[in-house]
Amino acid sequence: MSYELKTPFNNKIITIPQKTGEETIIAAIESSCDEMAFAIVKNGREVLSNIVASQINTHKKYGGVVPEVAAREHLNSVAMVIEEGFKEAGLKGDNITAFASTIGPGLVGSLIVGVNAAKALSLIYNKPFIGVNHLKAHVCANYIDTDLTPPFIALLISGGHTQILKVDDYNTQTILGGTIDDAIGEVYDKVARLMGIDYPGGPNLDKIAQLGDKKRFEFTKAKVDEFDFSFSGTKTAVLYLIQKLKKEYGDNYPKNDVAASFQENVTNILYQKTIRAAKKYGINKIVLAGGVAANSEIRKKFFDTTNYQVYAPKMKYCTDNASMVASCAYFLNNRMNNLDVEVFSRL
Ligand code: KG4
Ligand code: ZN
Repeated sequence: MSYELKTPFNNKIITIPQKTGEETIIAAIESSCDEMAFAIVKNGREVLSNIVASQINTHKKYGGVVPEVAAREHLNSVAMVIEEGFKEAGLKGDNITAFASTIGPGLVGSLIVGVNAAKALSLIYNKPFIGVNHLKAHVCANYIDTDLTPPFIALLISGGHTQILKVDDYNTQTILGGTIDDAIGEVYDKVARLMGIDYPGGPNLDKIAQLGDKKRFEFTKAKVDEFDFSFSGTKTAVLYLIQKLKKEYGDNYPKNDVAASFQENVTNILYQKTIRAAKKYGINKIVLAGGVAANSEIRKKFFDTTNYQVYAPKMKYCTDNASMVASCAYFLNNRMNNLDVEVFSRL
């Protein structure tokens, strides 16, 4: 597993990973949504610095991410996170093997800020530029601080995507199925809004769900293909349930029980389908990835299983961060490795 890159000015060949005995140090930027992040990672697994400038307080006012505002905030924080990251790692630009950045999918205005900063660093230090796919990077977060190797089944659950993947080797990720409507993180955020829970909805809903009775309300499960998902019916069922309960209890309806029951329903579906995929393909390693992999109930269900080796990134590498992008640049030949690559919003 290695691939070759060229430096921008003199086309010098750089092999990733560097020869045995030499360190490969990748500095990466992640700015696909509402986080501006910079990280420096050694040999794909060892984080030397990990800086995240979150915009939660800004977007809280609007109850969600406003793309224009996110891009403008990124411009304000990009130089600062890069400076901090180099300082924390105790390194200079010349020590870096290659610069990477998420190029998509994500918010175009936000992506452009990070990608152009990484391209600028690549030009300044005459080091290769590596464009990284955000979803693949989420899966690669599991290589950080572990000795995980493929093959494995990955459950990728984020604000924009819900997929089950079969990862045969570092470079081959096959999508077995995905959501036909909303992504799971999106459903969490929408249900949270229905319940009047503050942005960021997902983690706040998870907190109150832990206080509730998960057996109190039942929701039906959508009938979709083997490894596909559909959550829009559940979302509507929660809406009707809240309307009904509000008539009975007013604003003091049993919110914690609604949250817990909703969480039980969706995490069960995610759990059962992932296990089914692992069984079908005879793979005994399961990997959780994406922001929703930070969910307490998801982690509990998977980590309580005894027949499988389960991996999930540390909390700070579950939600958007740049260490996963650097790790992905190291392990995967993304074939988006030149200064001409453009950002993209969707797959
Ligand atoms: O991966 P991520 O940081 O950004 C995307 O690439 O989308 O995921 C963000 C999503 C949001 O929808 C957020 O509400 C959800 O992950 N999330 C959670 C939890 N923590 C983050 N959802 C449920 N429970 C959590 N603990
Ligand atoms: Zn993400």
